[in-house]
Amino acid sequence: MLFNSFVKAFAALPLLWQGAAAQTSAGQACNNSPDLCDRPYSNITFLGAHDSAFIRDESTGFSTSGNQFYNTTVQLNAGVRLLSAQLHATNSSQGNQQWHLCHSSCQLLDAGQLREWLAEIKDWMDANPNDVVTVLLVNADAASAQDIHDEYVASGITQYVYQPQTLEAPQSWPTLGDMIAADARLVSFVATLDDAAAAQQVAPYLMNEFDFVFENDFDNDDPADFSCDPARPSQLAGQPQAALDSDRLFLMNHFLYESQAFGIEIPDVDNLGFTNAVVGDGSLGQAAFDCTRLYGAPPSFLLVDFFNVGPAINTADAMNSINNPVGRAVVSSEVLDEDSGSTGAGTSLRASGSTLAFVLPVAVAVFWHGSW
Ligand SMILES: *[C@@H]1O[C@H](CO)[C@@H](O)[C@H](O)[C@H]1NC(C)=O
Ligand SMILES: *[C@@H]1O[C@H](CO)[C@@H](O)[C@H](O)[C@H]1NC(C)=O
Ligand SMILES: *[C@@H]1O[C@H](CO)[C@@H](O)[C@H](O)[C@H]1NC(C)=O
Repeated sequence: MLFNSFVKAFAALPLLWQGAAAQTSAGQACNNSPDLCDRPYSNITFLGAHDSAFIRDESTGFSTSGNQFYNTTVQLNAGVRLLSAQLHATNSSQGNQQWHLCHSSCQLLDAGQLREWLAEIKDWMDANPNDVVTVLLVNADAASAQDIHDEYVASGITQYVYQPQTLEAPQSWPTLGDMIAADARLVSFVATLDDAAAAQQVAPYLMNEFDFVFENDFDNDDPADFSCDPARPSQLAGQPQAALDSDRLFLMNHFLYESQAFGIEIPDVDNLGFTNAVVGDGSLGQAAFDCTRLYGAPPSFLLVDFFNVGPAINTADAMNSINNPVGRAVVSSEVLDEDSGSTGAGTSLRASGSTLAFVLPVAVAVFWHGSW
């Protein structure tokens, strides 16, 4: 009797539990919302940081090859849950091959070893036990499953890997709550693994991206060129219905390049204001809306450059019908350059709430009325 009223008293105060790390208990937040715990991985829109490790800030002299103003840890704190990176082979001065994250070439921008980046993600996952994170590695120099596995082991992140039940896109995925309860919270896609079946023997958690995911075209320098149509894998190119029927998850690329001399393309920062916006022609929100109409469901992943601008997270929240995210840090939505002063902006993280609580109902209302 006494115990019962005690339980009821607590049940009446669900807010008290929101920050707790208790597993699958009532009121627990999964990926920043209690509403997401019971939804399958395939029924959630995850915001993705394209080339997550390539930073355009003081630490890289505001490299024009950078795709993000804030590092992976800040991205995760702010609600990004898909991290992509390009994997390249390098040789150290001692002649040892290492696996580094580099933008197109390691002369252009070298963000260090894959294992160090994975260790950064592991540290974050250690501190955030109710979050499911997805990593997408673009395998530029044909690393073998063993090569990648060695990096995972060295980073210690293997304790969190999620292992698929099948070699191709399943009809159903576990819920976030299930993945969190099993502590299998890291989904790993590789584009591509040479021999997916053989890779399973070595590292059964590495998924050949295009067996599980399809993407629209990523290489755009004009907002008029954004399209929802499948571009990869090639056998699904231009065939939305076939892509849908294949059960693959849809990754929506939404970023622009700017052409430089010598055919070099760099991330376009000049148009970011509308590229990452929630509304307007060429915006992330408009593209997500168009693609939702085409496929009958929102994209699984929204992959953007400079995720803080927009802010892009608002479109992901609108897709998920989430209007009160918890445990998320708010990052400045400004475009940064040398004149922005110290990148310490990323350290002035504060608990989210008021801004999103204000912006989202508006965004969601506009979104669902389809007037944009
Ligand atoms: C999740 O599923 C519901 C019910 O089918 C659907 O209305 C919603 O759009 C889906 N959301 C996402 C983000 O997939
Ligand atoms: C690294 O060295 C190996 C062996 O000498 C060579 O085959 C490979 O091409 C080199 N890789 C790079 C990226 O320089
Ligand atoms: C990421 O950026 C934040 C803010 O600038 C900084 O405090 C932190 O040390 C950085 N983390 C890593 C792993 O570089």
